[in-house]
Amino acid sequence: MAIVHVLLVALIAATTSHAPRGVHGAAAKTTWPGDLAALVKAGRLRTDPSVTLAASTDFGNITSALPAAVLLPSTPADVATLLRAAHSDPKWPYTISFRGRGHSTMGQALAPGGVVVDMPSLGAAPARINVSSDGRYVDAGGEQMWIDVLRAALARGVAPRSWTDYLHLTVGGTLSNAGLSGQTFRHGPQISNVLELDVITGYGKTKTCSKSVSPDLFNAVLGGLGQFGVIVRARIALEPAPMRVKWARLVYTDFATFSADQEKLIAPRPDGSIGQFSYLEGSAFVIHGLAAALKNSGVFFSDADVASIVARAEAKNATNVYVIEATLNYDNVTAGSVDQALKSVLAELRFEEGLFFVRDESYLEFLDRVYSEEMTLDKLGLWRVPHPWLNVLVPRSRIADFDRGVFGGILQGTDIAGPMVIYPLNKSKWDDSMSAVTPAEDVFYAVSMLFSSVANDLKRLQAQNQKILRFCDLAGIGYKEYLAHYTVRGDWVRHFGGKWDRFVQMKDKYDPKKLLSPGQDIFN
Ligand SMILES: Cc1cc2nc3c(=O)[nH]c(=O)nc-3n(C[C@H](O)[C@H](O)[C@H](O)COP(=O)(O)OP(=O)(O)OC[C@H]3O[C@@H](n4cnc5c(N)ncnc54)[C@H](O)[C@@H]3O)c2cc1C
Ligand SMILES: *[C@@H]1O[C@H](CO)[C@@H](O)[C@H](O)[C@H]1NC(C)=O
Ligand SMILES: *[C@@H]1O[C@H](CO)[C@@H](O)[C@H](O)[C@H]1NC(C)=O
Ligand SMILES: *[C@@H]1O[C@H](CO)[C@@H](O)[C@H](O)[C@H]1NC(C)=O
Ligand SMILES: *[C@@H]1O[C@H](CO)[C@@H](O)[C@H](O)[C@H]1NC(C)=O
Ligand SMILES: *[C@@H]1O[C@H](CO)[C@@H](O)[C@H](O)[C@H]1NC(C)=O
Repeated sequence: MAIVHVLLVALIAATTSHAPRGVHGAAAKTTWPGDLAALVKAGRLRTDPSVTLAASTDFGNITSALPAAVLLPSTPADVATLLRAAHSDPKWPYTISFRGRGHSTMGQALAPGGVVVDMPSLGAAPARINVSSDGRYVDAGGEQMWIDVLRAALARGVAPRSWTDYLHLTVGGTLSNAGLSGQTFRHGPQISNVLELDVITGYGKTKTCSKSVSPDLFNAVLGGLGQFGVIVRARIALEPAPMRVKWARLVYTDFATFSADQEKLIAPRPDGSIGQFSYLEGSAFVIHGLAAALKNSGVFFSDADVASIVARAEAKNATNVYVIEATLNYDNVTAGSVDQALKSVLAELRFEEGLFFVRDESYLEFLDRVYSEEMTLDKLGLWRVPHPWLNVLVPRSRIADFDRGVFGGILQGTDIAGPMVIYPLNKSKWDDSMSAVTPAEDVFYAVSMLFSSVANDLKRLQAQNQKILRFCDLAGIGYKEYLAHYTVRGDWVRHFGGKWDRFVQMKDKYDPKKLLSPGQDIFN
C-alpha cells in the first residue's frame, strides 16, 4: 500500500530529535577475548564512531542507542566466532543484535552498549542467492533483501509466492516477524513458505533445521524476534513467475459492504480453491483530508478519479472511504483471458457503482511499488521522519467494533499522514507451532496504521496510538500486536499467551545467557 499520504503542512514541518538511550558503550575500554582479537585486527570488529553511530538508529527514527562495537562479518563463520566467544567467556559483557536494514520502528535491531552484527556485510560475498536447478526453491542469505531474491528468481522464470509490501527488507528480518502482505490469505505469511534454515545459535553452533530436522529450533526462529540465533540461510519455496498483474482498486463508502466483500474474496470456493485474486489488501480513509490522502496513495488515482471518489463520499454522507486493492497475476498463457476473469470477479462485488480503477503492470513493478514512493518521499524530506506505526491483528468478530471506534471514532477529524491498511487473513495458512502469534479466531484482520510524523506531532501520534490500544482493551477486543514493542515483561507474557512457556524454554536452550536481540526488550 502507499506510504505517501502527505499533508501540505508536511513540507514546512520540522522533526523532533531525541537523546540516545543507554549510552555506555563508548566509554568502555574494550579488550576482546582471543578469537575476536583477530577480527579486530582484520578491521571487521570495530568500535569507531563512524560505524557505531550508523548502527545506533532505525527507520522508526524515534529511539536510538549506541553500541560498543559493530561486527562487519565477511562470512557466517565470523558471526559464529562472535557468538561462541560471547557464550564461552564467563565475563562477556555485551548483548548482540543482528541488523538487517534497521527497518524496525522501535529499536528492535539495536544493541545498547553491546555489539551490532551488520548483516549486509555478509552480502559482499559471492553466491549468497542460489535458485535450485529444478526452480522449486531458492537458498538466500539471511542478510539478503527480498528485492534481490526476486530479481535472481525472475532471471530463472520463478519467484517466491508470499511477500511484504516493501521489498527492501532482509530475509532474516521479515522471517523473524512473520512477513505479511496481500498474498498471505492464499499462501500464508512468509514464515509458512520456508523449507529449511541455517541458524547460528546463541552458543555459536551452526544448525540446519526444518520441519523434520531440529523442528524445535526451526519453529522457534520463525517469528522468533531474533531471540534464538541468527538466520544465515533460508530455503524459500518458489512458483513459476507471473509476467504481469491486473491491479485493481474498488471503492466503498461503508465498512460492512467492504469487509463482507473482502471476506468473500479470501473464502474457499466449492472446488477448494481460495478466492480468485492473487493479492488482496484494502485501506481505510477518513473523510477529513480525503482528497489529499487518495492523491498520495501511490501512483494510482488521477485527479479526476480523486474528484469522483470524493463527490461520491459526500453524496453518501460517508465518514470513511474504504478501498479494496487486489491483483490478478497473468502470464503469456493466461494473458488472453485475464480481462474476462477480472470482469467476472468484479461482477460479484458490491463496490460503489462505477468506482473501480484498473492498472496493468509488470510483476516486478507491482511488487516493488513502495520503493518508488520511498524515492519520492525521500526527495521531499518526508522519509527520514519519525514513524510511530501501529500494527494489530484483530479478530473478525470484533472488526466492525474496531472500525467504529478507530476509523469512525478516534481518527475522525485528525490529520493523518501515512496509509492505513486493513485486510482479512485465515489462520489455516499459519503454522501455530511457530513463534508468531495471532488472535484466537480462524479469521482475523491485519490492520496497519503506518503514521508518519511530518508536522512535529510525534507526541500526539504516540498518545493517539495509546488511545487506540486502550479503546481495544476496554472493549475487550482480543487483538495481537504485530511488530510489537513492549518494555514490560507482563506485556510480552500476555502477547505470547499460550506460547510463552515454550518461548522461554527455547530461549533457555538456544540463548541461555540471554544476549541476543536485546532491542526487543523481552529478556533484557
Ligand atoms: C517501509 C516498510 C514497509 C514494511 N512493510 C511490511 C509488510 O508489508 N509486511 C511485514 O510483515 N512487515 C513489513 N515491514 C516491517 C519489517 O518486516 C520489519 O521492519 C522487519 O524487522 C524487517 O526489517 P529488517 O530486515 O531491516 O530487520 P531489522 O529491523 O534490522 O531487524 C529486526 C529484528 O530481527 C532481528 N534480525 C535481523 N536479521 C536477522 C537474522 N538474519 N536472523 C535473526 N534475527 C534477525 C534483529 O535483531 C531485530 O531484532 C515494513 C517495514 C518498513 C520500514
Ligand atoms: C531522525 O532522523 C534525523 C534526520 O535523519 C536525524 O537527524 C535524527 O538523529 C534521527 N533521530 C533518531 C532518534 O533516530
Ligand atoms: C550458493 O552456492 C554456492 C556454491 O555451491 C555456495 O558456496 C553458497 O554457500 C550457496 N549460498 C547459499 C546462501 O546457500
Ligand atoms: C478459513 O479456512 C478454513 C480452511 O480452509 C475454511 O474451512 C474456512 O471456511 C475459512 N474461513 C473463512 C471465513 O473463509
Ligand atoms: C450525515 O451524517 C451525520 C452524522 O454522521 C448526521 O448527523 C446527518 O444528519 C447526516 N446528514 C444527512 C443528509 O444524511
Ligand atoms: C511472453 O511474452 C513476452 C512479450 O510478448 C515475451 O517477451 C516473452 O518472451 C514471452 N515469454 C514466454 C515464456 O513465452
